[in-house]
Amino acid sequence: MIKKGIILAGGLGTRMSPITKSVNKQLLPIYDKPMIFYPLSILMLAGIKEILIIVNKGQVSQFRKVLKNGEHLGIKIQYKEQSQPNGLPEAFVIGEKFINNQNVALILGDNFFYAQSLTKTLQNSVKLKTGAKVFLHPVKNPKLYGIATLNKKNKVIKLIEKPIKTKSNLAVTGLYFFDKNVVKFSKQLKPSKRKELEIVDLLNKYKKLNRLNAEFLGRGGAWLDAGSIDDYYDTTAFVSAIEKRQGFKIACLEEISFRKKWISKKELEKGIKFYGNCEYSKYLKLLLT
Ligand code: TTP
Repeated sequence: MIKKGIILAGGLGTRMSPITKSVNKQLLPIYDKPMIFYPLSILMLAGIKEILIIVNKGQVSQFRKVLKNGEHLGIKIQYKEQSQPNGLPEAFVIGEKFINNQNVALILGDNFFYAQSLTKTLQNSVKLKTGAKVFLHPVKNPKLYGIATLNKKNKVIKLIEKPIKTKSNLAVTGLYFFDKNVVKFSKQLKPSKRKELEIVDLLNKYKKLNRLNAEFLGRGGAWLDAGSIDDYYDTTAFVSAIEKRQGFKIACLEEISFRKKWISKKELEKGIKFYGNCEYSKYLKLLLT
């Protein structure tokens, strides 16, 4: 069972500059809560309670202000800094001590997932014993993503980062499950032409060993990465539409903890007090009735 998860929440956010010149992208609001709540909720729904959040230099205190050490959510949150965005696999080098030779999940801080039976899919994924697992989702513009080509048996035969030409439209999303070899493999990687360690190169190591599994997040589900201005506002519009329509909140962390019995009513009440007079608190109050 995978017990540990990393949220990679550094990066320069250049596509969203000047907004991101002074604020970490992952602290910007997606409708009614900070962006980081969404990937954190995914790890929590998977049942992961030990979490490492990797942020840019000097930013830990900003994240700590809202997420603290996770105790109020019945989880344990640690923080580490990345000196500069050297690429996604660096998460496993920075997180080596946290990972402590165990299997681990990684989610990108700007990724948003919403799909039917997602919780079940996640709970199945943490059962991973060996190899790596990724999730694929169709996209309109494959040139912007890491793209997987499959054979007739739905096995990944090729992975290319931002391909100029490709027949596949299946993007590798920002949620991954890895066995404990991930640290060793990440350390073996060399920076690419764009001077970053590439997640595709890491996944290719697993593919070569025939240990890369891919699962589809079908058309019925949404995967958005809130990294460009338009995607950012699309994600906000999506959350707003679903929450207003259904009356349920997406990525309400205390709700997930409370329903999982990781926190008591008393702790929930403390949360309501902490957030103060806001819609999020009003929603939490409904859970007490
Ligand atoms: P990207 O979208 O590749 O980078 P970015 O968020 O800095 O944005 P831009 O391309 O506009 O400059 O990163 C995807 C996610 O991973 C995002 O949540 C930031 C995070 N990230 C890190 O934390 N460290 C890294 O070294 C990289 C490359 C990304």
